[in-house]
Amino acid sequence: MRSSIQIRRAREEDVLPAMVMVMKTLNHLRKKHQMKPIRVRLNELPPIQKHTYETDPKTTFCAWRGNKIVGFTQALNRRNQWYLAYLFIDPSVQDKGVGRKLLEKVWRDGMNVSHALCTFSYNMQAVGIYSQFGMAPLMTLAWMGGTPGKFKMPKPTNLAVSGRLSAEDIRWINTLEAKIRGYSHPEEWSFWTTNEHFAPYIFRDKGKRVGYGLIYKKMGIGPIGAIDNKYTVKIAAELIRRTDPPKKEDISIWTPTHNLALYQFLIKSGFRLGELAVFMSDAPYADFQRYLPTHLAIF
Ligand SMILES: CC(C)(COP(=O)(O)OP(=O)(O)OC[C@H]1O[C@@H](n2cnc3c(N)ncnc32)[C@H](O)[C@@H]1OP(=O)(O)O)[C@@H](O)C(=O)NCCC(=O)NCCS
Repeated sequence: MRSSIQIRRAREEDVLPAMVMVMKTLNHLRKKHQMKPIRVRLNELPPIQKHTYETDPKTTFCAWRGNKIVGFTQALNRRNQWYLAYLFIDPSVQDKGVGRKLLEKVWRDGMNVSHALCTFSYNMQAVGIYSQFGMAPLMTLAWMGGTPGKFKMPKPTNLAVSGRLSAEDIRWINTLEAKIRGYSHPEEWSFWTTNEHFAPYIFRDKGKRVGYGLIYKKMGIGPIGAIDNKYTVKIAAELIRRTDPPKKEDISIWTPTHNLALYQFLIKSGFRLGELAVFMSDAPYADFQRYLPTHLAIF
């Protein structure tokens, strides 16, 4: 079985069928753990996956059995940061060494290179394989969902909010992220500020920039970054006020549980826990009091 599997660099046209396999594998895992399936219709490549293929085509690989994709991985390289966006192996070929082989293909070593990713807290095989590559779970991320009409809308804060970002604002964000996130990622900011699905904001207190935040597809919140943790909850509140989710869709935030103030604010506002993910790394990473990630594949 293992010998009939071929590993090749992914072409752009492979990524959509690979994402279909990813969703099937994810729902297989969720079913095993008595969780509801996630239903998405993938007719075309979503903007986030199109962007990450464009930035990192050399570290995007598929495993094939005949003409069927049975494995997919993608690592994002941002200066000294290596971040694993995806590793998914079709259930029919799991536990046969394909995941390890794909991971070895995209792995990057070097002086001061840090490795990180997010994975499912309920999949010990995933946590286990990454632990064998030197990482350990450093934090829990709680998926918090707010159903419109069922949570208390936050009150306005004293922050001034602007949805028009200048080049100077973007430079400021990148400098701040190097401090609070550990690494800046201007590649993502170029994408977020030019794609219609994303709405970035900058926040000021008494005329001074104190943080930034992003809303994606009108309902997802993150990243958020702030110069001081006293602003993180305020920025989350202002972003929640500005979302406009399609009917029956929740406002969603991946909340670092290290940020107790934010976690409690969301719980007390009526947000509900959907699931827990773990953040794994082999080096100190962001200051999670002042940084909240976006999509787990980009962080
Ligand atoms: C997790 C996943 C990517 C692993 O790929 P795979 O091809 O099934 O796994 P492999 O056979 O290559 O290797 C699994 C490794 O994990 C190790 N492992 C499994 N359970 C473990 C545990 N509880 N503790 C420590 N290590 C464990 C195995 O020993 C093996 O290591 P080895 O090669 O040294 O023996 C795959 O099973 C999968 O796609 N699962 C569902 C989706 C998922 O969770 N993806 C991760 C998203 S970030």
